[in-house]
Amino acid sequence: PHIAHCVTVSDFEPAAKAVLSQNVFSYISSSANSGLSLQGNLSSWSSIKFRPRVLRDVQHVSAKSTIFGHASPFPFYVSAMGLLGRGHPNAEAELVRGLARRGAHAMISSESSLPMEEIVAALRDEQQKLASQDASNMQGSGFPPSQLHFQLYVHADHSVTLSRIRRAKAAGFKSIWVTVDTASLGKRTSDRRVQAAEALEVGLESAAEQAGVGRNTGFYPPTAHFKPSLSWEDIVWIKKEWGGPLVLKGVQCAEDAKLALEHGCEGILLSNHGGRQAHTAPDALTTLLEIRTYCPEVLGKLDIFVDGGLRDGADVLKAICLGATAVGVGRPFFYALAAYGSKGVERCIDILSEELATGMRLTGITSLDEALPDRVNASRLLNE
Ligand code: FNR
Repeated sequence: PHIAHCVTVSDFEPAAKAVLSQNVFSYISSSANSGLSLQGNLSSWSSIKFRPRVLRDVQHVSAKSTIFGHASPFPFYVSAMGLLGRGHPNAEAELVRGLARRGAHAMISSESSLPMEEIVAALRDEQQKLASQDASNMQGSGFPPSQLHFQLYVHADHSVTLSRIRRAKAAGFKSIWVTVDTASLGKRTSDRRVQAAEALEVGLESAAEQAGVGRNTGFYPPTAHFKPSLSWEDIVWIKKEWGGPLVLKGVQCAEDAKLALEHGCEGILLSNHGGRQAHTAPDALTTLLEIRTYCPEVLGKLDIFVDGGLRDGADVLKAICLGATAVGVGRPFFYALAAYGSKGVERCIDILSEELATGMRLTGITSLDEALPDRVNASRLLNE
């Protein structure tokens, strides 16, 4: 389909499906077990409503925000997704070209297709190109430069983890996000079905049977190397080694939010890994409300991020109203990249950002510091 047909970020999914192999489409769309964690994410944000204020003079609205002191034109970023090269030949380099043209931030996966240094270089190249175009047009782009953050999977081999941290620091990533919800790879049901079907097609009946119960899954990037004994002590040494802002990616309850604060983290990302890990995991909105109820003190002390199932700029606004600093978006960007390359990435940003601005106007908010809890009605969920 022509890119003009993509009017919501969900429209990138069928566009990508049309160009990707079943195998790769399954890798991106896949979720855990019966898919309930993913469905829960997708429906959560529309389960709460706005409480719009009217007559507020919303002629000028700005969604400007900052992530660890770095300006961003909007309070959302592209979340870490491994192996973008499966969806686009230029992989992460193509993603960051799109970001650069909008000033958007991204979290880069430690399972990226390209080495992290090449991704940073691709962003710099694009930014230089834009700067020279701006100079010849005698006008500035009007937005701050895109920034990259690094997602870390802690490797069982200490030296591998250490080298990743040092390389990320040297390459200039602005913060480190340690993924803590992947002690074991979740049961990716549709991937298993595709693998089983592929094995049956070539007559490998016993391989097909094994794929269905999670053995012989050579298709996955190996996760056997993730440190299964990962614990709070690891966070302390990672923090020391990194020396900058550290976020725990995958916090799913109030107790762990408190522990993150006690262990010196700067932020927590409330996430269930896009519904790909635990079965019936809490969506980020549920965890955010739990934190607001049981340990509201962490809200002012930690930066709170959320992700999972955010598909509308107006829903991004709800998360900000409830105390999030910024919001991560995953699959829509992978699909947009696969279907349309960096142009798709730009359009995905444009769609979210227009919906966000409209949402702000229609709820009577002109800047994000006015996005406060009184603009949403979450009472239905709190009374559950
Ligand atoms: C992910 N996610 C992920 N997270 C992480 O910490 N490291 C990784 O390498 C990956 N890889 C990855 C691949 C793919 C294909 C997907 C869809 C997701 C999880 C990701 O960062 C984020 O938490 C969710 O994708 C957010 O949910 P939505 O926006 O996809 O619903």
